[in-house]
Amino acid sequence: MEFSTLLNERRSVRKYQPAEITQEQIEELVTAALLAPSWKNTQTGRYYAVCSSEKIDEFRNTALVSGNPAKCENVSCLIVSTFVKNIAGFSRTGEPDNEPGNEWGAYDLGLQAENLCLRAREMGFDTLIMGLRDEETVRKFCDIPETEEVMAVIAVGKRDEEPQMPPRKPLERVLKFI
Ligand SMILES: Cc1cc2nc3c(=O)[nH]c(=O)nc-3n(C[C@H](O)[C@H](O)[C@H](O)COP(=O)(O)O)c2cc1C
Repeated sequence: MEFSTLLNERRSVRKYQPAEITQEQIEELVTAALLAPSWKNTQTGRYYAVCSSEKIDEFRNTALVSGNPAKCENVSCLIVSTFVKNIAGFSRTGEPDNEPGNEWGAYDLGLQAENLCLRAREMGFDTLIMGLRDEETVRKFCDIPETEEVMAVIAVGKRDEEPQMPPRKPLERVLKFI
């Protein structure tokens, strides 16, 4: 698929139809994530894939909040993303290199997330990045150590809707030439 088509076709999908995803396909998604650039190549993103339909249902009904559980009915898997804290943006002695500190870890994870979502789309899957989740429940469910910051849960599956692209801001509002 042409890259510009892929960029335009990726959408947040909130209605899925039942479809299988294999462990190899999930590995391909995380491999794509790992191709993203990262602070000093530290690659601090970590992933927890919830795959069986029983676990998916348990996870979405306990760990997802707001309207998200209903949006994830029939997803093929849910991928929890975290990053190891105090590495990206930090010197070897543990001092932040500059003012964002751990925000660089979140920045790197976001770059990985977009890679994952685009690769999923290329493979015929769709995604929904979800920031509205219960951190404590997610951490317990996946046994995530305190050294990692829990970030988004990414739903992956086959779309059962054709969402329109939400409007984008005009260029002149976001871009200044200096
Ligand atoms: C960090 C982040 C958190 C998000 N959290 C949610 C969420 O909890 N629930 C949801 O329905 N959409 C969530 N979204 C999806 C956005 O609403 C969506 O990306 C935006 O409306 C643009 O639509 P598009 O992805 O189709 O281009 C999130 C997106 C990002 C990047």
